[in-house]
Amino acid sequence: MSYATYTGNFTILAQAPGRVIMGSVSTSIAPTQQPVEKMKPLPRWAPTIRVQRILALLLLIFQGGITVTGSIVRVTGSGLGCDTWPLCHEGSLVPVAGAAPWIHQAVEFGNRLLTFVLVAAALAVFLAVVAAKRRREIKVHAFIQGIGIIIQAVIGGISVLVDLHWYAVALHFLPSMLLVWLAAILYTRIGEPDDGQPVMKFPSWIRNVAVVAALALTVVLVTGTMTTGAGPHSGDASISMDDRLDVDIDLMAHIHGYSMYVYLFFTLIVVAGVFLMKAPRNIQRLSIMLVLFILIQGGIGILQYRMGVPRWTVPVHIAMSSVVVAFTSLFWAQGRVREDGEAVVTGSPEGDAKRAVIATASGTPGDGRAS
Ligand code: HEM
Repeated sequence: MSYATYTGNFTILAQAPGRVIMGSVSTSIAPTQQPVEKMKPLPRWAPTIRVQRILALLLLIFQGGITVTGSIVRVTGSGLGCDTWPLCHEGSLVPVAGAAPWIHQAVEFGNRLLTFVLVAAALAVFLAVVAAKRRREIKVHAFIQGIGIIIQAVIGGISVLVDLHWYAVALHFLPSMLLVWLAAILYTRIGEPDDGQPVMKFPSWIRNVAVVAALALTVVLVTGTMTTGAGPHSGDASISMDDRLDVDIDLMAHIHGYSMYVYLFFTLIVVAGVFLMKAPRNIQRLSIMLVLFILIQGGIGILQYRMGVPRWTVPVHIAMSSVVVAFTSLFWAQGRVREDGEAVVTGSPEGDAKRAVIATASGTPGDGRAS
């Protein structure tokens, strides 16, 4: 791309080979012979890949974190601390003294407020990748995160309106796992320069087994929510058995537990494949961490089952679900990566050019190492 095509705050007054003069700013970054053009307003931010990744990592952590706070709502029986939605109580957006135990109102309302933290994180990522002029794939991923949070807020509201019926609670939890998965993909893709060439890192048999492993993980998650649906923690003391899943909890927990072994089995095949083909160190490390997290999560699951699902184990099991999903996704995303790009500062050639213009305009060295 020619730097002279970059749109910014400044009007190009004159241009010579290797030298563009924009208002009072003179720079030698634009070796181009293109006609003088009017530059559009320049947003003054072109964040580096590092900044974009930090924001994406925060978003990933928040996406996983809100499932944990959601589980705290459930195990403290605070699910109807706000008994309607989008208002907290009829006629009030915020908790009302005496409408429900104050602790339940505080826990449920606090969890609702966290949605705004999540929205802020998603917005920050979206603005960062747009400002850095990243490729479409990344912008679409960032956009999906924002839309997903809004949809999740509505599903959460519906689950309150249907008095925390087990399937509504399950359907509220599962999209969060999808958003965690996608946030991990977004985090990975941001690190790959837009002008890099896509490279398949694994042979097709490994990719196929990885698909089976991902499907098995989906079964683990769905059967997990069904175990919860049949389990002791409904989210509010007033929930009747009509709203619970009427299956034997022991049977459900066993189906859930055995589906984990299927998932672990296929994951181990993929990991063995990764080592056999001598994949890069970072991929090997990621695969070992994934197996470790699955084993830890399995151990927590067995422990909580044997102990009769005490309240404190549930948020831990949920937190580890997010970790397992995130690491499966991070590992999965390594199957096809972009390599050898030259846009190593912001991740996009246009973004790097923009950054150079901003640096020149502000008189700082445009090495792209700062924010
Ligand atoms: C990779 C392994 C595992 C993952 C990803 C996983 C994930 C989940 C998920 C997503 C839930 C539902 C949470 C909710 O709806 O709030 C759940 C519930 C549950 N899981 Fe697992 N699980 C795993 C392994 C196990 C194992 C091996 C056991 C042992 C039997 C187990 C026992 C349970 C029990 C008893 C519940 C119900 C908890 C409740 O009533 O809130 N899990 N699991």
